[in-house]
Amino acid sequence: MASFRTLDDIGDVRGKRVLVRVDLNVPMQEGKVSDDTRFRATLPTVTELADKGAIVLLLAHFGRPKAPTPDLSLALVTKPYEQVLGRPVRYIDWEVDQAGVASLRPGDVAILENTRFFGGEEKNDPAVVDRFARLGDLYVNDAFSAAHRAHASTEGLAHRLPAFAGRAMEAELNALEQALGKPERPVAAVVGGAKVSTKLEVLRHLVAKVDHLIIGGGMANTFLAARGVKVGKSLCEHDLTGTAGEILDAAERANCTVHLPYDVVVAKEFAANPPSLRTCNVHEVADDEMILDIGPAAVEALADVLKTCRTLVWNGPLGAFETPPFDAATVALARTAAALTQEGSLVSVAGGGDTVAALNHAGVADDFSFVSTAGGAFLEWMEGKELPGVKALAR
Ligand code: 3PG
Repeated sequence: MASFRTLDDIGDVRGKRVLVRVDLNVPMQEGKVSDDTRFRATLPTVTELADKGAIVLLLAHFGRPKAPTPDLSLALVTKPYEQVLGRPVRYIDWEVDQAGVASLRPGDVAILENTRFFGGEEKNDPAVVDRFARLGDLYVNDAFSAAHRAHASTEGLAHRLPAFAGRAMEAELNALEQALGKPERPVAAVVGGAKVSTKLEVLRHLVAKVDHLIIGGGMANTFLAARGVKVGKSLCEHDLTGTAGEILDAAERANCTVHLPYDVVVAKEFAANPPSLRTCNVHEVADDEMILDIGPAAVEALADVLKTCRTLVWNGPLGAFETPPFDAATVALARTAAALTQEGSLVSVAGGGDTVAALNHAGVADDFSFVSTAGGAFLEWMEGKELPGVKALAR
């Protein structure tokens, strides 16, 4: 039994007003939604509730407004959302349109105005919680990606109304539990990205949890420097080599094998297919070169590591994957992980903004066991933190 209540426990919702916290914080380019993944994630919950005759009131934030502003009104995404949902969606600025919510019928779906237009939302102000609570009979949280925020609509409401996890939240929590809560061993984690400083807590937590820690991206350079490797003019946080050394020691104590690349792809300038491109042993990086990807021999060795593992958690690319050919290692290892997942020998869970983009680039996002659309919330989960929005749903 799940440790939180789900839509299976919600009972008869016909004619009930259900406040559903979703994440409609989608990227926009020139006034258009450029990636509707988060819209699609809400569909199972919204469709299920509306089909059962609930009055579905969507609560969501949009951007980080300091005060109400038309450019961050959820009115802007109502039409695009309606197209994805495939049924009519009302937009209600309920402070102005007092009769709006009362006019809805069973099965109707409405988007309420940006929760962050209410000053107390981010402070989890009980007065704002009350105002939201008066709009609904039941509360469903389907926004894992906002669950690291203890806001009125993500945390406070769960204490004020009968609270349930939506289908997307349920799937996310089950996948994360399978990946790091009670995983099948051995477990590998891939942690990449530019800077160690943003992932120190993630690394500290993971060394105590996983059997293999694969470090890639710019942050690997800081670890290489900590081991005395000369990294030339690579991106490297030299002031953090001491901390990186401590993490390596902690890994050793915890019997976690840390994998750093022993061959690398380097260039004198950071550009697509630069003339100075070469692959070399990690000990042969010249003073005027920078490491931009891990090398093919390292990728092969890492693929062999994944073949021995049952579970994989992945956050961050292994190289500067947006610029070819520095996407090669990320693409190759992601494809290996995807193939092992499809063969049934690996449970693979990935998350974080760049990670999803990298897996899409490799064409394998659908072949992983689970890909989280969360950014900050996924990282906080990887740090081992309890997310307030999730905690508030506990039975
Ligand atoms: C996100 O985009 O990661 C979520 O919607 C949370 O947004 P926030 O970082 O503004 O709280």
